[in-house]
Amino acid sequence: MTKEAVSIRDLNYSYPDGTVALEDINITIEEGERIAIIGQNGAGKTTLFLHLNGTIKSCDNNVVIFGKDIGQMKSKERIEKVGVVFQDPDDQLFMPTIFDDVAFGPINMGLDEDEVERRVRSALATVGLTGFEDRVPHHLSYGQKKRAALAAVLSMEPRILVLDEPTANLDPMNRASLIELINDLNRDKGITTIVAMHDVNAVSQLADRIYVLNKRMVAEGPPTEIFMDFDLLRENNLDAPDVFKLFSVLSCFGFNCESLPLSINEAVEVLTKTIEGDEKHVHLHIHEHTHEDLEVLMHRYDHHHG
Ligand SMILES: Nc1ncnc2c1ncn2[C@@H]1O[C@H](COP(=O)(O)OP(=O)(O)OP(=O)(O)O)[C@@H](O)[C@H]1O
Ligand SMILES: [Mg+2]
Repeated sequence: MTKEAVSIRDLNYSYPDGTVALEDINITIEEGERIAIIGQNGAGKTTLFLHLNGTIKSCDNNVVIFGKDIGQMKSKERIEKVGVVFQDPDDQLFMPTIFDDVAFGPINMGLDEDEVERRVRSALATVGLTGFEDRVPHHLSYGQKKRAALAAVLSMEPRILVLDEPTANLDPMNRASLIELINDLNRDKGITTIVAMHDVNAVSQLADRIYVLNKRMVAEGPPTEIFMDFDLLRENNLDAPDVFKLFSVLSCFGFNCESLPLSINEAVEVLTKTIEGDEKHVHLHIHEHTHEDLEVLMHRYDHHHG
């Protein structure tokens, strides 16, 4: 039987200056799920995550983690259950050395020295920063800081891993290895993963289910369903993955497939299936509606016009 990892009920939040950031949020995430939260700048993603690490306290039983109100949890209990990696690594690294930063959580959890040491070594190895123990955090490159901030959360071994813009500003190799790492943690350790990101090309690699946030939760569903909904994307200033757009173009030229691929890997699958199936080849042609269809399609993806 699956357990509810995160349950948020009727959550509203306004900042002290009156800015309304979240309205009537309701979400339920089961243990082991891979979730993405997408939404334009200022949609409230970071604000939502601040509720999951105790920075913003909600005491009305709105935010429940594994059946328990997060407002009622002691910090030790909370950090064992949920770890949030923030958008800006500088918000997370504040100690004199990388070792101290990664050890901070485990020490706060009351673990003994040997276990703290083990956790730090293991977390740094996981993010590829072995040997960085004595380095000064603010002397690291952005990508290295980003990985150090992740290590500082992994060392607490949380059951729920929340990442705000994990792939932003990473080079292709670090981006790929980060995606693999998040998926390994989900698959091998059953860790529930929740990511907020603008990188729609990577969303389908990290999530089986998407929530679209725009102060309110305006939509929820599997990636294919969300990216098919042009009006939803336009209204929320969101893009579809490039591969998905390319295959939408191909479908104007008569290419047929059950569901449009969201990534290069899925594209290879779709093409292989088509070629190895009855058709034996990919057939494209221009029919009487092609130009019209293309115009409609291009207009749908155009973000410069209302
Ligand atoms: N400390 C604050 N005081 C007042 N308003 C704030 C504060 N922090 C954020 N806001 C406002 O709350 C709203 C939601 O901001 P939030 O940072 O949660 O958005 P986001 O979805 O994470 O955006 P981005 O994609 O740019 O990271 C915005 O309108 C923002 O201006
Ligand atoms: Mg944000």
